[in-house]
Amino acid sequence: MFFLVLGVLLGAVIVYAYKAEAALSAPWIPTAAARLFAQRPLPPPLDDTFLSSPRYTLPLRARGRDIVDANGTRFKLASVNWYGGSDELFVPGGLDVRHRDDIARTIRAMGFNSVRLPYSDELVMSNPVILPHLLSANSDLVGGRALDVFAAVVEALTAQGIAVVVNNHITSATWCCGADPCDAGWANDHLPAMLCRVRQTEEEWIQHWEKVMARFVNNSLVIGADLRNEVRGVWGTMTWERWATAAERAGNRLLRMNPDWLIFVGGTESQNDLSGVARRPVVLDVPNRVVYSAHVYSWSGWGSMGGRYAKRTYPSFVQSMRKNWAYLVEGGVAPVWVGEFGAPGKPGQGDANYWQNLLRYLKAIDADFGYWAINPRKPKDNEEETYSLLEDDWATPVLDYRMKDMTELIRAGRR
Ligand SMILES: *[C@@H]1O[C@H](CO)[C@@H](O)[C@H](O)[C@H]1NC(C)=O
Ligand SMILES: *[C@@H]1O[C@H](CO)[C@@H](O)[C@H](O)[C@H]1NC(C)=O
Repeated sequence: MFFLVLGVLLGAVIVYAYKAEAALSAPWIPTAAARLFAQRPLPPPLDDTFLSSPRYTLPLRARGRDIVDANGTRFKLASVNWYGGSDELFVPGGLDVRHRDDIARTIRAMGFNSVRLPYSDELVMSNPVILPHLLSANSDLVGGRALDVFAAVVEALTAQGIAVVVNNHITSATWCCGADPCDAGWANDHLPAMLCRVRQTEEEWIQHWEKVMARFVNNSLVIGADLRNEVRGVWGTMTWERWATAAERAGNRLLRMNPDWLIFVGGTESQNDLSGVARRPVVLDVPNRVVYSAHVYSWSGWGSMGGRYAKRTYPSFVQSMRKNWAYLVEGGVAPVWVGEFGAPGKPGQGDANYWQNLLRYLKAIDADFGYWAINPRKPKDNEEETYSLLEDDWATPVLDYRMKDMTELIRAGRR
């Protein structure tokens, strides 16, 4: 009887919580303004937001809350993620559909001035020949190995004046981020040897970084290294202190290769939490090189008062952003790049409440950002990517509320 009552009570609580969430996490319904935006061509990109513009003098530095050029002019990262290099097929997506130069031109035409380009450690360790059919629109790369193809994509982007931030995404070449503890951090040699298919020490992780970045030491539009995606631990076992120390070791080694690179350091708890920076900032041998990075998705926010971001009111959402990372920006302490966020594009899908809160806040603080992702397909099984900004032709932008808001965000803060 006791368990029956308990079960019914528990059930009632779950139903109540579900309904409360459903009431706030509304699917996206096109507004009149979004419909109008979709009917018009995209506004042309602002050439002076690209590092290739004569407005900028390299190198870049971190200064207060901003990334600035050599003359102190702010360079705002308006980035998009182009994934595939860290997945099963070892190659950035779309090279079977479109030449990389065309994809780079499309990214620029959409207004993005920078790309976050992930790789896996397994890519560096095995560096396989890429399957020819994955390069059918890039015949000059057929026969090439993964690192050569990765470098060719970087060069295609920088040739269009697009800045590149290289990102170590995951250890084994697979979609990030599952529950596998072998991929939860930059090293996994503390785990039982039998457990992990791909094993690496911290030193090996750094050596992989050196091998990848060695190709880009003379390419000034490769502006830095995003050291590791979504560091996390089971039951909060990944402390900020541990990660900050490892990030300093890796960052200092890379700065010995090129002291002008920016070193991007994500928060713990899957890149949600940068609150530890206040007590323990990342300090590198070369000053003014640290940019922090936060990820914000609708399902994030578990464990904090108020629950998932999908169901927050704006004041509650902003409170969490400030506590987790935005105190660094609003307080002028350090730049933070919101290097991943995203939502599905089809009407009736998505999460309008999360998106509207996030974009309203990013515009209000004129944030550096990186949308996840440009790709219309996931590498494994060619599954549809509902977050995509491009149609399957890798050429036609999806013009909906997401591009509308990001077009406005790119222009936020301009006078
Ligand atoms: C930036 O500073 C350099 C010298 O440090 C100068 O030659 C250049 O004209 C400046 N650029 C702009 C756009 O002010
Ligand atoms: C970078 O430039 C230096 C000096 O010109 C040269 O010695 C080196 O080989 C170049 N490295 C790469 C990877 O192109």
